[in-house]
Amino acid sequence: MTTLKLKCPELLTGRALIGGSWVNALDGGTRSVTNPATGDLIAEITDCGAEETMAAITAADRALHEWRQLSGKSRSQFLRGWHDLIVYHLEDLANLLTAEQGKPLAEARGEIAYGASYIEWFAEEAKRIYGETIPARSSDQRIVCTRQPVGVVACITPWNFPNAMLARKIAPALAAGCTVVCKPANETPLSALALGVLAEKAGIPAGVINILAGRTEDIGEALTSSPNVRKLSFTGSTPVGKKLVAACAGTMKRTSMELGGNAPFIVFDDANLDKAVQGAMASKFRNAGQTCVCTNRILVQSSVYDSFKAKLLVAMKDLVVGDGADKGVTVGPLIHERAAWNVKAMIDRAVAQGAQVVPDHHPEALGPCFVRPTLLDQVTTDMDIVQQEIFGPVAPLMRFETEEEAIRIANDTPFGLASYFYTADAARVWRVSEALDYGMVGVNEGIISNEAAPFGGIKESGHGREGSRHGLDDYLDIKYLCVGGIEQ
Ligand code: SIN
Repeated sequence: MTTLKLKCPELLTGRALIGGSWVNALDGGTRSVTNPATGDLIAEITDCGAEETMAAITAADRALHEWRQLSGKSRSQFLRGWHDLIVYHLEDLANLLTAEQGKPLAEARGEIAYGASYIEWFAEEAKRIYGETIPARSSDQRIVCTRQPVGVVACITPWNFPNAMLARKIAPALAAGCTVVCKPANETPLSALALGVLAEKAGIPAGVINILAGRTEDIGEALTSSPNVRKLSFTGSTPVGKKLVAACAGTMKRTSMELGGNAPFIVFDDANLDKAVQGAMASKFRNAGQTCVCTNRILVQSSVYDSFKAKLLVAMKDLVVGDGADKGVTVGPLIHERAAWNVKAMIDRAVAQGAQVVPDHHPEALGPCFVRPTLLDQVTTDMDIVQQEIFGPVAPLMRFETEEEAIRIANDTPFGLASYFYTADAARVWRVSEALDYGMVGVNEGIISNEAAPFGGIKESGHGREGSRHGLDDYLDIKYLCVGGIEQ
């Protein structure tokens, strides 16, 4: 059993938040949340299902009327209060996050600040939900567009960023005047429930935020089939996203889908190789490679391939694998044994297909959820590893000759989330940025996520944007008013 020493023990709860009450599952069922680094039990949480979800939808629907009537400024103040409490409790929230998710404490602190930055951002945007006037086609008419909240929103979030992914859905939803029913991943529900505790402390009215974990299929089915849920925002895998979009079609819900990626990281021969290595390390090994925007394939121009590889290996030697709660650790465990097994199987398959594992300096077995940071050399386009999302600390290196070839390889995937390239050539910056079929491009940058920017993908990486002023659009419907009979 992991005993968490929190300054505010109240933040650790396993109950579901429905209509302002902290409740158990109707049948009393529970499920365990464990620490992936140690396998220890952290807490038991309520195992909710369809009935509890229906109750949460009803609560969100009831709260909607008053919440949407508040001025943008009032909603902004609630969000600001929530933000401030999250920042105040950052250390506790980070400890909770590392315990249930595994990422190093420094990254967990970064995630809490990252999540809070979306709340701050949308607290500000809540005051700026502008409409539009359009010159009418006849002089006795006026055309006005207003933007109104879509209604009750279902937010389904993953285990890789249990705090930030939820914050960046709830914040724009609440800013827009929507209420939410949230289903965090069952591996990491405690960070989400802690956000609920702080939302309550910030005075956000009962029913505006509802959070429940449990039987995923039952909860998903209740959320997608309910006519009272008007939008679903999902972050997770592409196969699950496709199923959810299909399930939402029955009630014609709006959807935002932040799905899988297969990010290329291209190093041209004119690039600053030290900076490129720094960017590759940050982009590849953040959260042990478990992010949708993680570098998945490193494409290096032939003439600098060997020097880049040598520099990358040196940088990789400095990685410290271990329990994220331990000082100095930079790569934690993967989320569960199955995830680790999958990544190891991908490495084995790549080797069977001709890739070479470059010897590394990391300890073999820290536990069943750990995977050693691995550099795969001589990877080619026909290998499975470059077609799949790895979601682990594996860096496959591929060689290319020309800019055209790099772009062709980079775009040869059904995914289109993040991409990266390093060059010192100003013209190439524009040419390559425009040619990459991706929603996001990092140019001489390995970390591109922040609240001021529109995060999202194209192709099978999904649709919709989170963050920036565009992030609010996903939670607003345009209403057009035609006012006639205006006599002159
Ligand atoms: C994700 O992996 O889904 C999100 C990563 C990020 O926000 O940077």
